[in-house]
Amino acid sequence: MTERAAGRFITLEGGEGAGKSTQIARLRAWLERRAHRVITTREPGGSPGAEMIRKLLVEGPVERWDGTTEALLHFAARREHLRSTVWPALERGDWVVSDRFADSTLAYQGYGHGIEPAILEQLYKVAVGDFQPDLTIILDLPIETGLKRAAERRGAETRYENLPLEFHARVREGFLEIAKRAPKRCVVIDATGDVEAITRRIADVVTDRLGA
Ligand code: TMP
Repeated sequence: MTERAAGRFITLEGGEGAGKSTQIARLRAWLERRAHRVITTREPGGSPGAEMIRKLLVEGPVERWDGTTEALLHFAARREHLRSTVWPALERGDWVVSDRFADSTLAYQGYGHGIEPAILEQLYKVAVGDFQPDLTIILDLPIETGLKRAAERRGAETRYENLPLEFHARVREGFLEIAKRAPKRCVVIDATGDVEAITRRIADVVTDRLGA
């Protein structure tokens, strides 16, 4: 896709149990009240092929893949998700809200597993090209709070959750660093407050940045 699409692409990012799914459903309802056509989606996954890759990534023992293989699998899933779901929706003029995107690869495989940022940038070019989110909202909260919430609801998808606390601490720092380096695209929101207040804050940011 070379032309900038008519729709808008918003990504929500953050560590485990940050409340992204709840906020995405609420953001969708808010955008629809403003007469936008909206699809919500997720990574890894968001299309039949990418959901197959998701299963490989989020289930099973931690040592199943090393960081490099994980990065390759996430970017393979991402390309499939973009091609099958995101790009066609943007071309139709829909707004797309995705639960995670490439910042998760930089935070988890880069800051978490220590894969060189330059390698991840190259993979980004191959899989995604010049395309970028219009807006990225990073939901930030203490890792202990997030992991506790995540543990209460996860079924088989425990692979990342089972990584040590230090890994999750690096992921959190990674997201904050990513936001600092890309202030035009990224906004960090404190995710410890009540659900309603967080939704209002997200709506304000979307209005400010994208004029929704
Ligand atoms: P979810 O629990 O938010 O659905 O995400 C599944 C897991 O995949 C989560 O622990 C974060 C991880 N992940 C990565 O490690 N790299 C990525 O690029 C993406 C999109 C997710």
